[in-house]
Amino acid sequence: MTWLITGGAGYIGAHVARAMHGAGEDVVVLDDLSAAVPERLPGGVPLVEGSTLDGDLLKRVFADHGITGVVHLAARKQVGESVAEPVRYYRENIGGLATLLDAIADAGVRRLVFSSSAAVYGNPDVDLITEDTPCLPVNPYGETKLAGEWLVRAAGRAHGISTVCLRYFNVAGAAAPELADTGVFNIVPMVFDRLTRGEAPRIFGADYPTPDGTCVRDYIHVADLAEAHLAAARRLSKDAPAGDLTLNVGRGEGVSVRELITLIGEVTGDRREPVTEDRRPGDAPRAVASAERAAAELGWRARLGVPEMVASAWAGWQRHHGL
Ligand SMILES: NC(=O)c1ccc[n+]([C@@H]2O[C@H](COP(=O)([O-])OP(=O)(O)OC[C@H]3O[C@@H](n4cnc5c(N)ncnc54)[C@H](O)[C@@H]3O)[C@@H](O)[C@H]2O)c1
Repeated sequence: MTWLITGGAGYIGAHVARAMHGAGEDVVVLDDLSAAVPERLPGGVPLVEGSTLDGDLLKRVFADHGITGVVHLAARKQVGESVAEPVRYYRENIGGLATLLDAIADAGVRRLVFSSSAAVYGNPDVDLITEDTPCLPVNPYGETKLAGEWLVRAAGRAHGISTVCLRYFNVAGAAAPELADTGVFNIVPMVFDRLTRGEAPRIFGADYPTPDGTCVRDYIHVADLAEAHLAAARRLSKDAPAGDLTLNVGRGEGVSVRELITLIGEVTGDRREPVTEDRRPGDAPRAVASAERAAAELGWRARLGVPEMVASAWAGWQRHHGL
């Protein structure tokens, strides 16, 4: 097997490339470098610079490298940006996927792992979100992930491609400091950013119907997430054609924003009291995965906890910011 990893020089993609390469899989990365840090890639992994929107390039890459499976992570991922620029999000996330699926079908590739997101669910009012919880995304980003899953399954059925859609919950941490997320879009880097500026962390809403009044989320270490991709790829290698699988990737445990900020205070040594601001529109009180189906189908479970996520993310933040 030779796996093409699209978006493989991004935060999660580089972890996937490293985990699969480290486990002895042949991998090739395709990335347009729009949001990448190519130095994240391990030595010996070829990097092709280009876009999933470029069908001719994809054709060449499939032929030149003898690609037999694809892990598709390349996408735009900022919720706010997707609200402001929905057409661009549909063009790049869905258009890129459609072009890639054409290339996959033309090349006779039979295995695909697709990066989906808990954003497909929207804000369901349930204790644990299972894969059967209705999907009602509340922003264009989540819509592109849900429509992407539909497209992946339909193309899979039409062209005999075995597919796994992985719905990631809140990703955090780094397997090594140089692999850390350099963006400030998720809560952990957002709190680091405030602390580094000498400002108190912010809590958006402390009057939710949760034990401490703040929102509860399911955090997953990016190294565990990368292992889930490896398990999915191995499952596809073994069983193809295996139809389609859709799996949550989370820990199945809720952590509140206040608990997370307390933990960040312990790790960074900066225990300043957070300030409470108004709720943000669209935030669900609770979003926690049921992690059972991934365990049953892939034999995969998260091993690392939130303390490891925060400590490794902080090491990466310090390195990146020269602290
Ligand atoms: N980070 C999260 O918390 C999270 C949660 C759920 C799902 N996801 C999904 O995981 C995937 C990876 O996310 P990430 O956090 O690593 O983001 P990222 O921005 O760090 O990585 C995305 C990579 O894809 C590349 N890219 C973007 N569009 C491309 C295109 N058209 N062709 C080729 N390369 C392209 C970028 O240069 C970048 O290297 C995305 O599909 C994202 O939607 C991320």
